[in-house]
Amino acid sequence: MSPIKSALLKSYALLISPVLARMTRRQPLLFCGEGSTNQLCDYIAGVDNKNILLVTDQILIDLDLVAPISSRLQELGITTTTYGEVDPDPTFDHVRAGVEIARENNCDSVLAIGGGSSMDCAKGIAACMTNHKDIGELVGLNKCKNWPAPLFVIPTTAGTGSEVSPGAVLTDPVKQHKGGLGGSRHMPLAAALDPTFMTTMPPAVTAASGMDALTHAIEAYISRRATQESDRYALLAIKLIFDYLPRAYQNGQDLNARMNMAIASTYAGLACFTPLVGYVHAIAHRLGENYHVPHGLANAVVLPHVLEASSGAAEHRLAEIARSLNLGNSDLGKSTDSDTALSRAFIDAVRTLSKQLEIPEQLDVIKSEDIPSLAKSALKECHINYAPPKYFNKKTCEQLIKRIQM
Ligand SMILES: [Fe+2]
Repeated sequence: MSPIKSALLKSYALLISPVLARMTRRQPLLFCGEGSTNQLCDYIAGVDNKNILLVTDQILIDLDLVAPISSRLQELGITTTTYGEVDPDPTFDHVRAGVEIARENNCDSVLAIGGGSSMDCAKGIAACMTNHKDIGELVGLNKCKNWPAPLFVIPTTAGTGSEVSPGAVLTDPVKQHKGGLGGSRHMPLAAALDPTFMTTMPPAVTAASGMDALTHAIEAYISRRATQESDRYALLAIKLIFDYLPRAYQNGQDLNARMNMAIASTYAGLACFTPLVGYVHAIAHRLGENYHVPHGLANAVVLPHVLEASSGAAEHRLAEIARSLNLGNSDLGKSTDSDTALSRAFIDAVRTLSKQLEIPEQLDVIKSEDIPSLAKSALKECHINYAPPKYFNKKTCEQLIKRIQM
């Protein structure tokens, strides 16, 4: 990349930082711990909406996680309608189907029960319900003229951070492109982080969603838009993930590990409010669009490669993360290793964590002939939206994707 282009990209990325930092932060009310879903139901009953759409997926309905919440809300005098057709990587069509059900049943509010897919789909439905527009017209930043319908969420995975995110990732099924909603109006009103709703999460989903949270925290920390506040959330999230993700993966019934991972996911989501993310997400989104690789898995596979390719520019920040995890050698509690050694130690620790979680190092779905267009699209997403520690050129990005290819 020419020095002029790189300088222009850097100025653009930093110019929009104050805009992001000043976006009205309306954080959701968080209920935490075992039984917090009941507290959330009580809270919903106190809000002036009495006809709620439950947005979820068939697996959670079959696991009988949705019926008790529906019953509890009905006991509190709230009418419930369930839209249970959300699939991974929800598309505009999933949103349209949910909006139709909401309109047919005169719903006035939305409760998402599920992972990032259900929460993101619910954000799209809530926006369409009050703006009377198709979802295709609402994607982008601050496109909603009216406030979306009141939105509440119960995450059943720990990774996306969608419960504290003012955005949603949705796929345009015609263009096969991931885009989405952005703007503080899409923030949920309240969320319940209830570990008992996470115990049914299979180990592979636990691993992938946990690595998604780790990626949010790391990309936020090494971003040139990082703030003191985002740094604090990111370091807390990273520490919790290294401590508790292997435990949650080994024993899904470990409520303490599940609770700490739920908090880590939320902190990681808060960490990337202003910095957003970086190349790992930009490449992972392409792997999701083109080959339906689950988002967390794609991030987990891409993460160490992007860190290695960025390590020169991100060395000091990666070393700071390493120090916060007490990696490397120390004397009287003070690290004695160089930034280079500590940065290396942190990337190695990420690889070791991935191995513990049985995450593959490469993916066998990437077609060689697709690599130039994957790289082009990833660079576009990253250069328009994010402020990574260093900008890659097309050749570097293509080489990076080749290393992920099995
Ligand atoms: Fe993510």
